[in-house]
Amino acid sequence: MKRIAVFASGNGSNYEALACACDEGAIPARVALVVCDRPGARVVRRAADHATECFAFDPKSYASKADYEAEIVRRLDAAGVDLVCLAGYMRICGPTLLGAYGGRIVNIHPALLPAFKGAHAIRDAFDYGVKVYGVTIHYVDDTIDGGRIISQRAVPYEGDDIDELERLIHATEHPLYVETVRRLLTGGPAERNNDETNEKREKI
Ligand code: GAR
Repeated sequence: MKRIAVFASGNGSNYEALACACDEGAIPARVALVVCDRPGARVVRRAADHATECFAFDPKSYASKADYEAEIVRRLDAAGVDLVCLAGYMRICGPTLLGAYGGRIVNIHPALLPAFKGAHAIRDAFDYGVKVYGVTIHYVDDTIDGGRIISQRAVPYEGDDIDELERLIHATEHPLYVETVRRLLTGGPAERNNDETNEKREKI
């Protein structure tokens, strides 16, 4: 059974979707670890509800990013993690984490990348007057929402209610993340990818 880790900073609805899909067998894996950089976040309680091991840490209590990422890597190794899924983890991955797990880290973003990177993508796209929104899942590099795209899904919306738009986008994120993670873990239809990432992917 493959093992995945989910990194989140807040609500954790994508964690919930992945955990439920694992419980129901839709993803042939289990969530072996949740990593959260905000100990009070709702995702920490969700992890407890699913009895998922959770490493919740305060980045300020470490001397450097390299220090807390080294601790994360130790925990990923101990849990035998095959794939890391960022799900609202609002931090850039540094060299320590990418050095150990690069090519095995994916992220979900609520926009059609490379447009509207950053923490407020839905609001930014809405303010810009976008008519076709969307969701992207991509490999993670050392830039904000950067890395080769794995899957995308469009969300057409021409209304003026941002709450409704957010609901539509989240409702698109959850099944897309489940389908994409299942495909990555089961070696489904090949994604276009570069050689280096393909080589690393063989470890998944
Ligand atoms: C999701 O919409 C995810 O795409 C976004 O954070 C939200 C987390 O929601 N990520 C980014 O904006 C990354 N730049 P969740 O905590 O309910 O899963």
